Amino acid sequence: MKISGLSTPALVLDIRILKENMAAMAAILKDSPVKLRPHYKSHKCAALAKWQVANGAIGMTCAKLSEAEDLCDIGIEDILIANQVVDPAKIRRLADLAGNCRLTVCVDDTENIRALSSAAKASGSVIHCLVEYDIGMERCGVTEMQEVLALAKHISACENLTFDGIQAYAGHISHIETADTRRKMTAENYDKLKALLALFQENAIPVRTVSGGSTGTAEIKAAEGLYTELQAGSYLFMDATYRNLGLPFQNSLFLLTTVVSRREGLTVVDAGVKTCGIDQGMPAVWNGTVDTVVASEEHFQLHNFSAETNVGDKILLIPAHCCSTVNLHDKIYLTDGETVVDRLMITAKGIGR
Ligand SMILES: Cc1ncc(COP(=O)(O)O)c(C=O)c1O
Repeated sequence: MKISGLSTPALVLDIRILKENMAAMAAILKDSPVKLRPHYKSHKCAALAKWQVANGAIGMTCAKLSEAEDLCDIGIEDILIANQVVDPAKIRRLADLAGNCRLTVCVDDTENIRALSSAAKASGSVIHCLVEYDIGMERCGVTEMQEVLALAKHISACENLTFDGIQAYAGHISHIETADTRRKMTAENYDKLKALLALFQENAIPVRTVSGGSTGTAEIKAAEGLYTELQAGSYLFMDATYRNLGLPFQNSLFLLTTVVSRREGLTVVDAGVKTCGIDQGMPAVWNGTVDTVVASEEHFQLHNFSAETNVGDKILLIPAHCCSTVNLHDKIYLTDGETVVDRLMITAKGIGR
């Protein structure tokens, strides 16, 4: 089938660019001690996760317990939940899951560590733990080095838990447009992390894992070599937000839409916020420019679109945020040139618990 035959709005993925993005990431990490542990949230496709692991990823990162369960179901053996899991019922599920794969979770709280230990003991499993160090994002984690150390010691003293290392995710740096500022801020974090690792060394506590990093900081992290693993997710698809950063990845994911109405200065397409995430802004138009984009549930109004359009024409949009867009769809059509060559199911669509 040709792309033009797809019912819109539809997510389409250029297979050649996808492969180039994968190769670009492999090239970045080739001579670096940093290993790739890509984030599942960016595509939520079992098939792509398997592909990433078959092509060198050491395992997968995910945000939610239910995503970890989905990954385990398809045979991914090494999974990091890059978040805290605190609900008692979920902790029981997590402990059971840890019996079926190598499961790591982030912690930043003594009581939570105790609860994880009891559940793992009851389940007969071992849960691997990373203490989350808040390195400036002001999301989860502890901010003081001594707190990180105290939590690590606490984990080591708990049955059925192992202290593996540290998560330090600096998501506030990922999308900064100038490479120099991204580099400067990452260098400041490097110094903080170095000091933390020195503290662990003084206390003779091995830190096997330092996890974090994103698409926007992949090259910097690979060159500095302090992290042991990189959690980048968006590099496979890219989006309109990352597009302006001059990274060595290209847009492979597009939202195919149809023009449903047009008049002078205004082109309206059949996709809106129900099929395109706008949490990081409005989508860009692939072939041309627009002055402004206005969103409603089922429409984007493209003001002063530079290309000539007629009702019924197909327009490719680049979502501003690939991760939140993918979560709105059931499937992605793989394309090679103008031809649809396959369909990938978004197996973890809407899985957010
Ligand atoms: C903890 C964590 N790690 C990694 C990522 C991946 O970042 P990106 O998709 O920008 O590569 C994210 C994105 O939000 C994240 O929250």
